[in-house]
Amino acid sequence: MSDKAILEYQGKKYEFPVTEGTEGELGINIKTLRSEAGMITLDRGYKNTGSCESAITFLNGEEGILRYRGYAIEDLAEKADFLEVAYLLIFGELPNKQQLDKFYGDIKEESEVDEEMKKILDGFPKAAHPMGVLASLTSALTAFNPGSVDVESEEDMYKAIVKILGKFPVLVAWTQRKKNSLPLNYGDDSLGYVENLHKMMFEKPGKKYNVDKSVIEALDKLLILHADHEQNCSASTVRMVGSSHAGLFASISAGISALWGPLHGGANQAVIEMLEGIKADGGDTHKFMQKAKDKEDPFRLMGFGHRVYKNFDPRAKIIKKSADEVLEGLGVEDPVLDIAKGLEKEALEDDYFVKRKLYPNVDFYSGIIYRALGIPVEMFTVMFALGRLPGWIAQWREMRLKKEPIGRPRQIYVGANLREFKEVSER
Ligand code: ACO
Repeated sequence: MSDKAILEYQGKKYEFPVTEGTEGELGINIKTLRSEAGMITLDRGYKNTGSCESAITFLNGEEGILRYRGYAIEDLAEKADFLEVAYLLIFGELPNKQQLDKFYGDIKEESEVDEEMKKILDGFPKAAHPMGVLASLTSALTAFNPGSVDVESEEDMYKAIVKILGKFPVLVAWTQRKKNSLPLNYGDDSLGYVENLHKMMFEKPGKKYNVDKSVIEALDKLLILHADHEQNCSASTVRMVGSSHAGLFASISAGISALWGPLHGGANQAVIEMLEGIKADGGDTHKFMQKAKDKEDPFRLMGFGHRVYKNFDPRAKIIKKSADEVLEGLGVEDPVLDIAKGLEKEALEDDYFVKRKLYPNVDFYSGIIYRALGIPVEMFTVMFALGRLPGWIAQWREMRLKKEPIGRPRQIYVGANLREFKEVSER
């Protein structure tokens, strides 16, 4: 096989090296395209553009494969916990006991948030969407933790990483507590990372905090499944913002804003809103299946289909099992869940969906579990953000360590040609 790709344009040939990844993926390196051929590539939405070489996450949408640092998502979801996965994603290897204990110890040391931050939270209206609040608070962390990270220093890098991992769950919990008019609190260092988060979110004043172990396990699994997904919209945003050498907190804050949209992390909220809508309409799933198939109708079955996974979403398989266990374990009975099951069954047997390879994606089930766990709908995407935090950090760290250049795409200009300026009186 040739390791060069040849482009022919107007009788001239240009050669470009081909890069092969460890899983056999091929990329044409067009670095010299503009200087040699006077052209650029045009690729709306970067659907076919590799922005970097990365050793963090591998996914194959055709075969439904997802791996973090070479480990199958199925194994990690079954055998590891969220903090181990965070360490793996960020530093490249699974931690031994000593490394893990130190990592969590250092995170706990950083789990205080400056009291002054409460004043910022206070300024938000209660109706504010938690994702907007979280993005702002994360950005504000920069002001309370000034000083740029010396990326040449592993120690500096490490400190910034444990800082954000320590403070982020507090901010997540505070956004929920503000929404629910509960007093702001801090965590309990004797608990694990995810249980501590849960306690901070749900503990009520004067009431003994109690949680079923299966709830924490389900939450932990959900966070693992969301921890990274290679160069998606929010990870690319974190890399892009960080490539200007803006700090880690500012880059993560930008990633949160990117995740907020309904085409990205906001889909889990859209699923529950759709199910609620079907319920309010009388619960006829067949009617909505017909609507989803009708090309004249803009309605789509939220939680079905995926841009990359065209066979099945491996995360959905894992989470479906977990959803069944949690719902049964908690004895949850909810008409919205019955509607979800009905839709799923019909879609999996329907020719339209089967032909187009439209399967339930991870967000179809994650919303259902979050709801069963008592997490408010508007907090769903915030939970996604917490899960994705290690991935964003890993992407940012890799980008800085590799000394990637500032991200700056080009364009094909299609606007007006040079025009004569006219004074306002002549326009
Ligand atoms: N309901 C009904 N029809 C659908 C759906 C759906 N959810 N998704 C795709 N289709 C149909 C399209 O109408 C199209 O039909 P056609 O070939 O007859 O024109 C065909 O399937 C292909 O659809 P595309 O939009 O081209 O597929 P694409 O890969 O661009 O979109 C996407 C993927 C955006 C996820 C889409 O399936 C969708 O909108 N799903 C619902 C939203 C959702 O659940 N998003 C969460 C994704 S998971 C995540 O981000 C973590």
